[in-house]
Amino acid sequence: MCGIVGYIGNSQAKDVVIKGLKRLEYRGYDSAGIALINGSLSIKKCKGKVSALEKLLSDSEKGSIAIGHTRWATHGEPNDVNSHPHVSSSGKIAVVHNGIIENYNALKLKLQEEGYKFYSETDTEIVAKLIESFIDKNPSIEFVKAVKLALAQINGTYGLAILNSDNPETIFVARKGSPLLIGVGEGEMLIASDASAVAEYTDKVVYLDDGELAIIKKDEYQVINADDVELTKEVHELAMSLEEIEKSGFPFFMLKEIFEQPKTISDSLRGRINVEDGSITLGGITSVMDKLVNAKRIIIAACGTSWHSALVGEYLIEWLAKTPVEVEYASEFRYKDPLIGEGDVLFVISQSGETADTLAALREAKEKGATVLGIVNVVGSTIARETDAGVYLHAGPEIGVASTKAFTGQVTVLALIALSLAQHKGAIDKKSSKKIISALSKIPSQVEEILKQSDQIKEISNLFTYAPNFLYLGRSYSFPVALEGALKLKEISYIHAEGYPAAEMKHGPIALIDDMMPVVVIASTKHTNDKMVSNVEEVKARKGRIIAITSPSNEEVRDLAEFSCMIPETEDVLSPLLSVIPLQLLSYYVAVNRGCDVDQPRNLAKSVTVE
Ligand code: AGP
Ligand code: GLU
Repeated sequence: MCGIVGYIGNSQAKDVVIKGLKRLEYRGYDSAGIALINGSLSIKKCKGKVSALEKLLSDSEKGSIAIGHTRWATHGEPNDVNSHPHVSSSGKIAVVHNGIIENYNALKLKLQEEGYKFYSETDTEIVAKLIESFIDKNPSIEFVKAVKLALAQINGTYGLAILNSDNPETIFVARKGSPLLIGVGEGEMLIASDASAVAEYTDKVVYLDDGELAIIKKDEYQVINADDVELTKEVHELAMSLEEIEKSGFPFFMLKEIFEQPKTISDSLRGRINVEDGSITLGGITSVMDKLVNAKRIIIAACGTSWHSALVGEYLIEWLAKTPVEVEYASEFRYKDPLIGEGDVLFVISQSGETADTLAALREAKEKGATVLGIVNVVGSTIARETDAGVYLHAGPEIGVASTKAFTGQVTVLALIALSLAQHKGAIDKKSSKKIISALSKIPSQVEEILKQSDQIKEISNLFTYAPNFLYLGRSYSFPVALEGALKLKEISYIHAEGYPAAEMKHGPIALIDDMMPVVVIASTKHTNDKMVSNVEEVKARKGRIIAITSPSNEEVRDLAEFSCMIPETEDVLSPLLSVIPLQLLSYYVAVNRGCDVDQPRNLAKSVTVE
């Protein structure tokens, strides 16, 4: 989803901004642009990749201040004219924007009546002209005042970066609903919508919050809130190394992140489990454990892959801690006037910590008096900062749009939360608890074992690269994995795929099965394996092409399947951590065979910061 980068300092601003935009490419976009001040304001922008924008730039574009943008179109098709930056009629003011201006039509009509001309179909263009209109009405007005007056009229969401050639040493930024941060350097300042764009220049960042405006010069910055009060913001230490945001020899970030999972699951466990005494330490939720213990129910809201891990969390918490759990799509939860309040606990799960629907669900629940906890990967992200407490994944930056290590990190953290809650409630005996914790400590090495089968999985993918549809079936803990496997395939190979509870197949989808239909069956939970055998028989009887993800204890499914991938035995409650790995690899290899852009699939964004 769209990106913003800005720079002011002693280096060539154009080079820093272009490099930063490339760091943000993983978020998904359709066009790019840059504005520089070198005496006057110059704009270069185009549809397509940052590399296409780079070709428009020449060495003559020098200057110490610039802002850049990668667009994920919401208003107006991806083309050169609709690309950002958008400028004022005077050509002095340039604006780049992440988000949606909901009342742009009304503002545009009003500005057109005042004689301002528009050239793009975007909502963003009104920002430049609206600021300009306040200057035209009162030429002596301070620029930042004109910006504030304009923002006061805008409804919707924005992350904005603004240049004004009459203020050539200043970048103006404003945030409402779309992330923005300041990278604090030595004699230079950066701004960005994502920390990966500034990580190689500084490890000191200031996160802006909604309603805040920042005035940034190369040696200083000032942050003011909506009431014009100057704020002293906390300077955070960025826990992100360059190596983590590079591909390190892998062809795609997604493959790197799949193979990182033994380490990232270890990192999610580090310092949180004691195998000897079976204890669990989750410092992030110690202060709210009493609320969790006394909660009559727990609600989990999330989107996409995070919603799938939430479904696993439902099984984990209900099975281990005996607390009823409801899982909600964040986008549905926030508009249903949810029956939630004091005494309820809402978990929000989000890799990016910036997903608009999940953030809105969080705010809705907080407003209604519930305790809101986060399970988030990106440290310092908006969701992490707005929850009452939470647990970080510690999975490191996830660059590939298709979420992999974040899913296993989320399930790992959910297992820890479920176990810790079960212990605090006395819902699990020490022996059972130690058994599960011991099994959890073995998961990283077991994932390593599965990854060694990647060539075999690649072989299977070669046979089904052009299948028009896939069906994924699972029961119990494996049902959310079936959904996740189907989503992975859909989003990077563009093949239609559906995940289904295996038993549900009889109630309709079985009509789809023939010898053209690959059916991936996840049979890795002992307590449902017998039933899975019957489901596999039903598929086989209709000539479905069966790919089984199963474990040694389920030889029957393996023998019935045309292809199988054996995963090590573990506790049923932990099986999603293992059964998802072959599905990640299967989708990756199919997508590569189809020549898809695995890290930046069409139409998709890494963090959906618009509704
Ligand atoms: C999953 O592969 C997708 N990238 C997408 O469904 C993602 O999980 C969803 O947008 C939620 O993102 P979040 O975890 O950052 O909130
Ligand atoms: N709404 C703006 C547009 O469509 C910005 C989209 C984005 O966030 O990139 O141009």
